[in-house]
Amino acid sequence: MGKIVIITGASSGIGKATADYLSRQGHTVFGTCRNPANYPKPDTYSLVALDITENESLETFVSYFRDNSIIPEVLINNAGVGITGPAEELPIPAIRAHFETNFFGPIALTQGLLPLLRKADNACIINITSIAAYSGLPFRSVYSASKSAFSIFTEALRMELRKAHIRVATIAPGDYATDIASRRHHAPVIKDSPYETIYSEALATMNSHVDKGSDPLEIAQTIEKIIFETHPKVHYLSGKWLQKFSVALKGIIPSRWYEKLISNHYNI
Ligand SMILES: NC(=O)c1ccc[n+]([C@@H]2O[C@H](COP(=O)([O-])OP(=O)(O)OC[C@H]3O[C@@H](n4cnc5c(N)ncnc54)[C@H](OP(=O)(O)O)[C@@H]3O)[C@@H](O)[C@H]2O)c1
Repeated sequence: MGKIVIITGASSGIGKATADYLSRQGHTVFGTCRNPANYPKPDTYSLVALDITENESLETFVSYFRDNSIIPEVLINNAGVGITGPAEELPIPAIRAHFETNFFGPIALTQGLLPLLRKADNACIINITSIAAYSGLPFRSVYSASKSAFSIFTEALRMELRKAHIRVATIAPGDYATDIASRRHHAPVIKDSPYETIYSEALATMNSHVDKGSDPLEIAQTIEKIIFETHPKVHYLSGKWLQKFSVALKGIIPSRWYEKLISNHYNI
């Protein structure tokens, strides 16, 4: 049976693939991005304006559903951005802006939509985090922190909403081939910084991982399974076997060994 689905960040990457897939499966999809006029009009779903960091935009978006008595049944908090840089050099305003998009924005949207989601039969909230949420990755400290914070937030939200029969889960993707690297905030490589060589090499490695990433359609299909799951798990990992295994490994091997593996992976 088709659901009414809201997915943020549907102009690109995982969000676009999911909006396209779910709408072709018969769901009514409202995808969002900051400026839909910048993109071709999708054939099978609506692409509507929403900047999750702007209160006015959030209010306009939520009131559209309220005023038109449209009850969303699924909310997918997918919009997000990357940020890279040495922890010592990342500007505090850039860190705050990053958390606005990856942490405060999706929470504000969830809060705004929950009164409507409560009216749906067995609503579902799926938060897109990252495998980076499970470890502090070098030169991605702030990204790991924002996704980790969102993941932990989700665990609490899930228990708070259990009696309201709203199912809540995260999907933590590994590397997927999307435009995330081009939208990412890159702290510049500073000449004569102690990180000049090590950071620029790690940056090249990170970008190559995204370029060689998996097909976002995988996530779209996982999302559809969760939507129809009576008792979804709280966390789903999605990606290549080794990326998923790294999460389990962290809990098993000594931290020194784990850090060595991660450092080798990033060539640092
Ligand atoms: N790709 C990966 O390897 C990977 C791995 C782990 C986790 N993830 C997570 O998966 C999600 C999707 O990433 P992606 O790889 O598909 O990235 P992407 O291709 O760069 O797409 C990001 C989407 O978020 C939207 N967005 C960004 N800032 C926004 C804001 N302030 N308000 C509303 N929408 C905003 C963008 O729309 P506009 O710019 O058009 O507004 C775009 O549609 C993110 O949460 C990301 O952290 C991705």
